[in-house]
Amino acid sequence: MVMLRLSVEQYKKLPILAEEGTFSGKTYIITGGNSGLGLETARHLVEFSASRVILAVRNLEAGENAKINIETSTRRKGVVEVWHIDMASRTSVKDFVRRASTELDRIDGFVANAGVMLDAWSTTEGIETTIAINVINTMLLGALMMPKLVESGRKFGMHPTLVFIISVFGYTAKSEMDKNREGSIFGGLNDEKRTNMGQRYPLSKLVEECAARQLAALCPVERTGVTITLVAPGLCSTGLGRDAGTFTKVMHEAVRAMMARTAEVGSRTILHGLVVGPDGHGKLLSGCKIKEYWVPDWVSNAEGQRLQKGIWEELAARLEEIQPGCISQLSQIQE
Ligand SMILES: NC(=O)c1ccc[n+]([C@@H]2O[C@H](COP(=O)([O-])OP(=O)(O)OC[C@H]3O[C@@H](n4cnc5c(N)ncnc54)[C@H](OP(=O)(O)O)[C@@H]3O)[C@@H](O)[C@H]2O)c1
Repeated sequence: MVMLRLSVEQYKKLPILAEEGTFSGKTYIITGGNSGLGLETARHLVEFSASRVILAVRNLEAGENAKINIETSTRRKGVVEVWHIDMASRTSVKDFVRRASTELDRIDGFVANAGVMLDAWSTTEGIETTIAINVINTMLLGALMMPKLVESGRKFGMHPTLVFIISVFGYTAKSEMDKNREGSIFGGLNDEKRTNMGQRYPLSKLVEECAARQLAALCPVERTGVTITLVAPGLCSTGLGRDAGTFTKVMHEAVRAMMARTAEVGSRTILHGLVVGPDGHGKLLSGCKIKEYWVPDWVSNAEGQRLQKGIWEELAARLEEIQPGCISQLSQIQE
């Protein structure tokens, strides 16, 4: 892995690419903002004078505790709000988007951060839970938020940002991905017998990255005014994997104890994803830099592009079934 070229101490250090005024007076939404990277991103935004920071959470009590935690450490009240979203429910995602689109005057940045690392098979609404949360409903949320982001950019003369949180760990799932290249990709991903759940989390992050790349390609920043970034925060000490089995948990905790960034340091990569601007559109960002050169050939070459389009075509059809027009409207957004 490229990151191993750095010493552990170097790996754990990152700059905060924001200054007084960068986030001042702006509005942000962070899914999974009650813990880990989402919580620390929210804390930075409040510290940097954002005027409205919405923690989109499945557990309102955990969200309220996170709000108190941020208010106590930053000494700023009246900025953080806690809104409900359950990323395991497409109805909840649609309700959330409706609320955000009607109640908010503007959205400067939307961080699609919520995610799970599971290693046992379970389903939600007929889909394996990791794929449902990390891929299908995350992309549904991103696509449905686009019109409001476009509108915000035009109304206030700025470039809003939509950030997806991916992982270079996803590149370890090539052979698991290869098992699903023939026939229906999402059909294969939903076939319990074919699935190695030990690889499910990285595979979900790889599929999410492919889908987010295709969304960015379909929504060029020149046409929409919205920058779509793909942030890989690196290995960070968070609660990710707490719902996994003992073996996965112990393995991850051991690796994290050796070399992980703190959640606060990891969140600096997300701040970078929010401020990078149009140069970062559709690109892999890591360590607070554009790191497109980290993307393996088998993702970027013609074969990889075919896979990306195949994933997108199936995903788009599913999303259109969930919310008719949510994908087709993207091509109609005009400058
Ligand atoms: N930590 C790392 O090393 C690392 C590396 C690369 C990428 N990432 C990505 O970073 C993102 C944040 O993860 P993290 O490391 O900060 O872990 P985390 O502390 O476990 O945060 C995950 C967040 O997602 C929320 N979430 C999970 N399922 C949800 C659902 N159905 N509806 C709404 N929210 C839900 C969790 O809420 P609850 O508190 O209610 O469970 C939690 O707030 C994830 O997308 C992860 O894949 C992490």
